[in-house]
Amino acid sequence: MSTTRFSTLDWAKVDLRQVPNIVVPPPGPRSKATHERCTKYFKGLSSQVKLFPVCFESGKGCLLVDADGNQYIDFSSGIYVTTLGHCHPKVSEAIAKYANKLMNAHDFTTPIKTLLVEKLAEVLPGDLTGFQFYDAGTAAVEAGLRVMRAASGKNEMISCYYDFHGKTYNAVSLAHVRSQVYGRVRAPGSHMVPRPDRYRPLWCTEDGIIDTDRYIAFYDEYIDKATVGDVAGFVLEPIQGWGGSIMPPDDFFPKLRKYCDERGLLLMADEVLTGWGRTGKWLCLEHWDVVPDVVSIGKGFGNGFPVTCVAVREPHQESFEKISASSSYGGNPMACAAALASTEVIQEENLLEYCHILGSHCLKILNQMKERHPIIGDVRCKGALMGIELVKDRKTKEPFPEAGEFVYQHAFGNGLAWIPAGHILRMSPPIVMDLDTAAKGLEIIEEAIAAAEKSLG
Ligand SMILES: Cc1ncc(COP(=O)(O)O)c(C=O)c1O
Repeated sequence: MSTTRFSTLDWAKVDLRQVPNIVVPPPGPRSKATHERCTKYFKGLSSQVKLFPVCFESGKGCLLVDADGNQYIDFSSGIYVTTLGHCHPKVSEAIAKYANKLMNAHDFTTPIKTLLVEKLAEVLPGDLTGFQFYDAGTAAVEAGLRVMRAASGKNEMISCYYDFHGKTYNAVSLAHVRSQVYGRVRAPGSHMVPRPDRYRPLWCTEDGIIDTDRYIAFYDEYIDKATVGDVAGFVLEPIQGWGGSIMPPDDFFPKLRKYCDERGLLLMADEVLTGWGRTGKWLCLEHWDVVPDVVSIGKGFGNGFPVTCVAVREPHQESFEKISASSSYGGNPMACAAALASTEVIQEENLLEYCHILGSHCLKILNQMKERHPIIGDVRCKGALMGIELVKDRKTKEPFPEAGEFVYQHAFGNGLAWIPAGHILRMSPPIVMDLDTAAKGLEIIEEAIAAAEKSLG
């Protein structure tokens, strides 16, 4: 019998068996009133809020409470952020300590930053041992791109259809975002190519198996024919989060790594969403034993405190000197304390291991759900990163966005706080969630899917 101890969430002092608890149909009157006051001035809401304009007041562990006292199971972790649950005492106390001791010292050395970089060098794979810190995922991505350019002396970057890397100009130019807001043209030298999607493959072998080699061969041809021959490398999400938890086939990243090495290209992994335990590894690419040259880390890194990181392999670390790497907030003592405490909690509570147990449990339930509901085209899950793709017809795989919206709102109304994404439902519970609560969350989703089938046909 395993003697491994996992987090019990005792610290949250919440009986999740009593959650959700909806006392007023949400959004209730207090939520509505505050939302109205707030949005008089606060503009540019995400669809997550527009589709369910509730006002949250507090959170503890896997529980969220709105202004009317409704209690929700948290299946979003903010937006893939609070991986350890809301207000883990070790993380909160670490932030509070430095809020009272030393808030900012630009990029001067501090003892807490020293402890953090030593810890990162210990837990990250291979020779990913050079670091710089930022305050947003997109800032870490931009710095990673600057490192790629400095290390290679080249400018062009290749990303993939449906990838997302943030909202600054270079990052968004490598993303599937169609909006005039970001400019009508991508930044020069930004390319996008298809990547293997197991549910919607572009190229298969005669046996019907996704043909990763064909994708790699296409990249080779594309670089020869469609670029100006100045390619620094690839920038990819290991699993496409915003795209809808799209998982690559197991041979994709090992083959891409080999191809990059052979062709003299760098490989940057954008692990802002997938890193720091979300899939049961520090880096998602560890599932396939691949070490990227550059990696961006964010979201769960500080469990809610805005701290992100760029990690670079040893041979390319001199590039940090060429990119004016420091920033106003990067590596401030509160941020370092949050990231160090989050990392230690993952280690102390054996959460990487537990995340696999949670993921296997949820995948089993998701597969059973798929059997019962014809509008479910595909389910996927790695650790606590999950997706359900809704289709009008399993044969044609035509997306069913109306069902996606319906299911999101219906489940939210029944006490599940989560994330909408068109026809793909995305789930990212804190990795500390117990198995019964996770099953209850999925049950709420299944009930909403059944209601969608009934009302939308
Ligand atoms: C893969 C990935 N990269 C970068 C970003 C940008 O991070 P941030 O919103 O912290 O700037 C995101 C945000 O969702 C992301 O999912």
